[in-house]
Amino acid sequence: MAVGNDLPQARDRHRPGGDPERQPPYPSGWFFLALARELTPGRVLTRRLADEDVVLYRTADGRPYAVRPYCPHLGAHFGAGGTVEGQNLVCPFHHFAFAPDGTCVSTPDGRPPRAHVEHHTIRERNGFVFGWYAPDGKPPAWDAPETAPPEVRATASWGTEIHAPAQELAENSLDYRHLPVVHQVTLKELDPPQAEGPYLRTRLRLGPAGPGPLTRFQVDHSFLMAGLGCLRIEQPLPLLGVVVYLWALHTPTAPARTRLHLAAACADMRPARTAARSSLRRPLHRALARTMLRLAVGKVRDDIPIWNAKRHEPRPRLTVGDEAIGLYRHWVRQFYPTP
Ligand code: FES
Ligand SMILES: [Fe+2]
Repeated sequence: MAVGNDLPQARDRHRPGGDPERQPPYPSGWFFLALARELTPGRVLTRRLADEDVVLYRTADGRPYAVRPYCPHLGAHFGAGGTVEGQNLVCPFHHFAFAPDGTCVSTPDGRPPRAHVEHHTIRERNGFVFGWYAPDGKPPAWDAPETAPPEVRATASWGTEIHAPAQELAENSLDYRHLPVVHQVTLKELDPPQAEGPYLRTRLRLGPAGPGPLTRFQVDHSFLMAGLGCLRIEQPLPLLGVVVYLWALHTPTAPARTRLHLAAACADMRPARTAARSSLRRPLHRALARTMLRLAVGKVRDDIPIWNAKRHEPRPRLTVGDEAIGLYRHWVRQFYPTP
């Protein structure tokens, strides 16, 4: 269930840095394009990734596809009225049809031309459709990961536009110093950040800053970053017998501009003994996912004015306590073209 969408809050005169030289280029990685449930069979959607439209569609057999937007015949945009007929994407301008391999297979009145639409590589994971992007156009260097058990699907989501590069948004969870200042949260590092290829993991115990009785509610958060596009936070709540999954999905849409999508899911820690019991617990899972998403949106709203107005510091003056940021800055280099 969508909790809602925010309109951009950023002011153009505060575009980060105002200097394109300061901005990191688009990183490579898997980036969120749509919720799987939005892309029903027969539907055609247009999304933005790295300054280009991506047209997504789902064929009758349930498979999702994503193509570059313009028809090779006379350049119509597939997202502006394109349709899906069986397995084919049909252009809105002259009804040329394109098979799942991209080949033009039919026209309304004769032999199809030798024409081809270019596909993006996409994956469905945990109810999200991710697309691969690399600035040099190379194929995926790693596969899109499951960041929760495969049967877990996000049931609540929310999105907004941020005037900052994806790298700045992902850095937030390793910027420990801002947690008490901006979010009134205390933290204890349980496991220091560990980088492994395109993944970065860390574990923090977070709770409300005092004074007051609520300070006793400390929850362990396992952070997993899969490139710069996907941050998953896993929170076990043993008293309720559930695990909550939160995702912050960062899609670079334009220079220094990112579509931020938050999503939440909730699952039992142990599988329910019967199917009836499992379906009885589903409303609880959905309600918890909605609540946790609202809390997360509230925290992100604290960050948004800072993200929208700040500039990217390519050589930050880090100090004691900023070690996680230093490690993160080193880890992110793998996602950019070598200078
Ligand atoms: S422009 Fe697509 S069929 Fe003509
Ligand atoms: Fe934050």
